Amino acid sequence: MNYQWYPGHMTKAVRMMKEEIQLVDLVIELLDARAPLSSRNPDIDELGKNKFRMVILNKCDLSDKRANELWKTYFEDKGIAVILLDARNRGAVKKVENAVREVCKEKIERDLKRGIKNRPIRAMVCGIPNVGKSTFINSFVGRTTAKTGNKPGVTKGKQWIRLSQSIELLDTPGILWPKFEDQQVGIRLAMLGSINDEIIDKQDLACHLIEYLKESYKGVIADRYSVDESLDKYAVLEAVAVSRKALKKGDEPDTDKAAFLMLDDFRSGKMGMLTLERP
Ligand code: G4P
Repeated sequence: MNYQWYPGHMTKAVRMMKEEIQLVDLVIELLDARAPLSSRNPDIDELGKNKFRMVILNKCDLSDKRANELWKTYFEDKGIAVILLDARNRGAVKKVENAVREVCKEKIERDLKRGIKNRPIRAMVCGIPNVGKSTFINSFVGRTTAKTGNKPGVTKGKQWIRLSQSIELLDTPGILWPKFEDQQVGIRLAMLGSINDEIIDKQDLACHLIEYLKESYKGVIADRYSVDESLDKYAVLEAVAVSRKALKKGDEPDTDKAAFLMLDDFRSGKMGMLTLERP
């Protein structure tokens, strides 16, 4: 199955982001902590050049703690400030505010030297669909202002959300689409649920997940489903169907159902805190 996927309105979205990015000092890039590189659109480096930059590894409640540290170091080594976040947690979002001031301190000092006081830092949140941009903006702001949905910026007048005296946030996130030639990247994004499930063969995807978990997280499948995970990946899927009583007529294992179940368990963290790639 082919995991290539690239919607036609991409160019338009990038054009709109190019316009919006001119309005900000800081670009806050949201990535999925379970696959930070696969969920990163490389165009952002070009789009965000000359801007202060910050990476948020979001959904860190679902990712592997050890891998989180590796990814944090990876981005910090590139000179980008990194925050691990569960965007649904309003309290945790507070730490972003302090980090923003730290990242932009050069601008604050520059303004002060020029006698400009209290000019707020203007920030924009961006990322691929489903990484949690709307959730983040809503939590950050503490009320439901950000619109959910994946349509590229439909703003006419720009709305700024004042977070504090010193920070303003553009209320529409910059939406980038995933960009990949590498099949593995597509597979990881599909596992995360960032690619429309309707165009995906779930059994095939579940088999990829089984293969990865067998290799990188030994015992996770065996523990959760009480099956012998040393079997071939499709046999594991069948065993999961049997163990979860997902059966068709004649007691045949319903591997479609099992695939759905496993993907759902992975995405919702029921299999544990797992990361799909390492630096
Ligand atoms: P987007 O604007 O970037 O497209 O993403 P959005 O905020 O809509 O978030 C996509 C899904 O990810 C939502 O779940 C949201 O609740 C969830 N989410 C966002 N941040 C986090 C996080 O840090 N941790 C976890 N565990 N989940 C997060 P959903 O199931 O699509 O919607 P809902 O059931 O929450 O309404």
